[in-house]
Amino acid sequence: PNDRPEDETERGLRVADKGFLNTAVIESSITYIDGDNGVLRYRGYPIEQLAARSSFLEVSYLLIYGALPSGSQLSHFTSEVLLHGPIHSDAEGFFRAFRYDAHPMAMLTSAFSYLGSYYGEANPSLQGQDLFTKAAKGDAVALQNMDRQIFRMIGKATTLAAMAYRIRQGRDFVVPPTGMSYTESFLYQLDHLSPTDQLSGPQSYKPHPVLAKALDILFILHADHEMNASSTTVLQTGSSLPDPFSAVAAGCASLYGPLHGGANEAVIRMLLSIGSPKNVPAFLEAVKKREKVLSGFGHRVYKTSDPRSFIIRKVADEVFAVTGRDPLLDTAMALHDAALKDEYFVSRKLAPNVDFWSGLIYRAMGFPMDFFPVLFVVPRVVGWVAHWRQMMLSPSGVKIWRPRQIYVGPSTRDYVPLEERT
Ligand code: ACO
Repeated sequence: PNDRPEDETERGLRVADKGFLNTAVIESSITYIDGDNGVLRYRGYPIEQLAARSSFLEVSYLLIYGALPSGSQLSHFTSEVLLHGPIHSDAEGFFRAFRYDAHPMAMLTSAFSYLGSYYGEANPSLQGQDLFTKAAKGDAVALQNMDRQIFRMIGKATTLAAMAYRIRQGRDFVVPPTGMSYTESFLYQLDHLSPTDQLSGPQSYKPHPVLAKALDILFILHADHEMNASSTTVLQTGSSLPDPFSAVAAGCASLYGPLHGGANEAVIRMLLSIGSPKNVPAFLEAVKKREKVLSGFGHRVYKTSDPRSFIIRKVADEVFAVTGRDPLLDTAMALHDAALKDEYFVSRKLAPNVDFWSGLIYRAMGFPMDFFPVLFVVPRVVGWVAHWRQMMLSPSGVKIWRPRQIYVGPSTRDYVPLEERT
């Protein structure tokens, strides 16, 4: 009754679709998922082939630009991304302002927003609201500007993540190295002993090749997943045309939740709370009574096993061969096998998702639990910027994402002065 009645008829059918179960918000040529058959493809290439044969930065190029790069395109893209790794030294003060025990996702989320404040050239509020959208009409300078921000965000994602990691250990920040791959550089920045570190051991850190390769594969698997909650958030935010760093910061906030990127952390907490395989049946009973959640299981789109979970399971074995076997694996396997045989989970088509095994790998590599979502954000920045770029380059322009609601509140009421209220 409070709504303008003419809107109701003029705008056509309004559908209430809580949780967007059936609402497509965009046309996209980036990632394809067939959830019934467990299929995932980036730009048409099966995820299994990319994980086995490609590298994270090559996949990043593919996701953003739509085709596998030539040798020179890949080396240009790689050097641009790595060139943009270093961050102004002022950023140290930003990180030092956080509490000693701040969650790294809180730091990373705000760090992306903070980073945007350095680049007025990327801010449509300052430069004009067609700053990026005019790239769709062939403006080469706008396109270059857009790509520069993309290089920055991918290049600096590892640097910001490493700063969030090291500050909590009371360690100095390190400058991104040269001559290493993206994932090697990330591992180097996390673990390199800076000259002032009071730790014994070598003063020069070289990432273990098996662990660097494992992380590279995990990054490929996490790089995109079409309209998940965080990518949708990036586009929703981007649709009002803020600078892209702000849109990515919004994506970080969305990913942080335990139903999305926080699930890998939640899986380890769950496995630790279960304690051993013998407690698995009691845990599953509690899940069925809805007292607990089986983290790492279930997915909005996959109604069979997430294809990434098979690849990750293999990577886990390769990592454990280097780091030693995590005793939690026995609990994880018992839980996995029991859930897949249980009628409750089978009838609801609940199967392991990407997060069921990834946390075990991160734990074996020595990362603290609350850093796991950060390890998801770093590669997902690529998917976010690919979607953002696609939207900005849409020939039909960007339309602000402004959904409607079904109003269920009171109709018109007259204001009652405080002294007359009963
Ligand atoms: N444990 C127990 N029951 C579950 C689980 C679970 N992990 N997931 C879904 N269910 C049940 C629901 O209770 C519901 O049962 P009902 O029909 O009897 O009410 C049924 O399965 C359907 O589930 P929905 O909640 O409708 O599924 P939705 O698509 O809304 O949620 C989600 C998907 C959020 C991923 C959910 O499965 C979940 O919470 N999983 C655990 C968290 C997790 O692993 N998240 C990571 C997702 S992947 C990613 O972001 C990388």
